[in-house]
Amino acid sequence: MVDDNLARLLQALSDGRYHSGQALADALSISRTAVWKQVQRLQGLGLELQTRRGQGYCLPGGLELLDESAIARALAGRGRSLALSVHPVIDSTNQYLLRQSGQLPAGVACLAEQQTAGRGRRGRQWVSPFARNLYLSLHWRFEGGASVLEGLSLAVGVVIAEALEDLGIADVQLKWPNDVLAGDRKLAGILLEMSGDPAGHCQVVVGVGVNVAMGAAAGKTIDQQWVDLQQLAQEAGRPRPSRHQLAVALLDRLAGLLEGFAEQGFAAWRERWLARAAYLGERVSVSAANRSEQGVMLGVDDSGALRLRIDGEERLFHGGEVSVRPES
Ligand code: BTN
Repeated sequence: MVDDNLARLLQALSDGRYHSGQALADALSISRTAVWKQVQRLQGLGLELQTRRGQGYCLPGGLELLDESAIARALAGRGRSLALSVHPVIDSTNQYLLRQSGQLPAGVACLAEQQTAGRGRRGRQWVSPFARNLYLSLHWRFEGGASVLEGLSLAVGVVIAEALEDLGIADVQLKWPNDVLAGDRKLAGILLEMSGDPAGHCQVVVGVGVNVAMGAAAGKTIDQQWVDLQQLAQEAGRPRPSRHQLAVALLDRLAGLLEGFAEQGFAAWRERWLARAAYLGERVSVSAANRSEQGVMLGVDDSGALRLRIDGEERLFHGGEVSVRPES
């Protein structure tokens, strides 16, 4: 776990400069041996620390840690009063909110620097290295059960795309049902998890993971094509948005979406989803359970179901374990 000393050491090294062991020991009011032990723990988090004789320790490139009160202040400045907590290390931000969802009101957010059991769709792991990407979840309450939530995960994709576009990231595409891509590479993922009564009062946790600056070591463990904001910003020759900016933009837009969704439904978001749809008009392959079908992607309907033309007829594919890939 990241305790006080470790958090203070991280803060001290976050400027990317060299700090001598003695200066760190003085700043943290601990011995140099204790500093050395904390440095070992930082390396255990996957942080690539450099040590130079005579100069001390440095985190090359520095580190932007998420600041709970700065995020809350920025959201309040946009008229959003979300209860939010930022955790250094957690199993999963979705799981954290789901554990308490019976007791939580609408509008509770959880962010983490690192997830030890980050969850992806279809039981996959979501690679979540420390302080490199963004991992956040937002808890909300709905009346009227699961049917009210139809298409919500697609609308979350629109929110993410718009937030990224506002921050200068171009060519964001949405792959049905809810992958966020840039040039065929996965940039962000969405995982909605529900609890409560599927026909009545229910709670939903909207989980979003955005690849910001994945790092080579973590990147090697991902088994699909991916990209991060660092890479995209480099390709476009512009600075990448900060994790703080991104967190504020996403939480602001997500709260706006969730506030209005029960009334509006996906129909209000459909055009904006289609404007960013990947593979529109192309032949795609849809696989659900053990079956796979090919057809031309026509778009989505007002509930978010995928429309495919197969053998001259239009067929609808609803959520669940469905994926879309261009035919090889
Ligand atoms: C996907 O497989 O595309 C969905 C990935 C969702 C990852 C996010 S990170 C924050 C939240 N907490 C989790 O454990 N998962 C989601």
